[in-house]
Amino acid sequence: MVTEITKGVYWVGVVDWALRKFHGQELSTHRGSSYNAYLITDKKTVLIDTVWKPFQDQLIANIREVIDPKNIDIVVANHAEIDHSSSLPAIMQYAPNAKVVVSQRGRESIEGHFHQPWGFEVVKTGDKINIGSSDLIFVEAPMLHWPDTMFTYLTGKNLLMTNDAFGQHYATAFRFNDQVNQEELYEEALKYYANILTPFSSMVLKKIEEILSMNLRVDIIMPSHGVIWRTDPLQIVAKYQDWASQKPYKSAVIIYDTMWEGTRLMAEAIGEGLAAENVQYKIFNVGVSDRNDIVAEVFQAKAIILGSPTFNQGILPTMSPILEDLRGLKFQNKIGAAFGCYGWSGESVKIINDHLNICKIESVTQGIRAKWQPKLDDLNKCRELGQKIANAVLSS
Ligand code: FEO
Repeated sequence: MVTEITKGVYWVGVVDWALRKFHGQELSTHRGSSYNAYLITDKKTVLIDTVWKPFQDQLIANIREVIDPKNIDIVVANHAEIDHSSSLPAIMQYAPNAKVVVSQRGRESIEGHFHQPWGFEVVKTGDKINIGSSDLIFVEAPMLHWPDTMFTYLTGKNLLMTNDAFGQHYATAFRFNDQVNQEELYEEALKYYANILTPFSSMVLKKIEEILSMNLRVDIIMPSHGVIWRTDPLQIVAKYQDWASQKPYKSAVIIYDTMWEGTRLMAEAIGEGLAAENVQYKIFNVGVSDRNDIVAEVFQAKAIILGSPTFNQGILPTMSPILEDLRGLKFQNKIGAAFGCYGWSGESVKIINDHLNICKIESVTQGIRAKWQPKLDDLNKCRELGQKIANAVLSS
């Protein structure tokens, strides 16, 4: 259902209630998502972003509720990723003479995706396009989260359309932040930040400073996923500043997999050591847990404690994706440790420690190995390890 955000500005996007995996199978979206596109009617008619192609008919039907799509003069593609751009060909069939406004990198990407001779206008930070009673002002925002990303600001209405930044994979019946469950909203906003934006945190901080220094009054922040921030919109900007500073809680996450329960017993004993020092922790068996939910917990915790038995002279394959996330997401200000059972060769702890080193996560100890099933003495060492990690967390 089309929603008028403010006079002459409409949400014409779609809600994808069924979405459970995004980026192929990479990202879990337990609460669905939305693809937000915005229509601005002034002397010129402007469409800001489109939606994922399976929903293009709904987008066009929504636009029709406001105007005939052939009357679109300008399509702004703030970001070329397919979830926002893949209905462009359908829109351009209706409005073949519409100007496609993009960043320089956006043009490369849009042309690479669609191979169409559309009329492009490349913009950079500070460029303006007058659309009648107001202007569009563009702000390049590279790596938030692709090199092509830009924001579009609408003068007069003071709207900032930020594409993925400040978004959430959160399908709801309502369009605005004050209409939804705040706990769910922030859970999804944090999961989105942790899994997508963490490696670009320094750029997030710089971009926020740059926008604040432009003295653009922002009354509403309109991301391309989830709800629109109309009530106290700068609350999500402040949250991003906090998240981007990567100051973890004084807590720990223990992540493991196990073959015959020995590594699980070690995980739980380490947890007992943490609890003895009053440090909060969570334990995840990666074999039965959602990887992206674990990443959201890792993002918030100071200590990351990883356990695997030795398997084929390596680690259990189920551990590899989360290790890859630790490398790719470039978490800062973490400490780590490794543990695991073994029967014969016993490489797993060294492999995990080497990986922590690659991730620039400082290992608190050499880690703990237990041969076959852990004995009481092994479990006591695990408790001591938990206490040692707890003390490092508390003194951080
Ligand atoms: Fe929502 Fe980077 O696409």
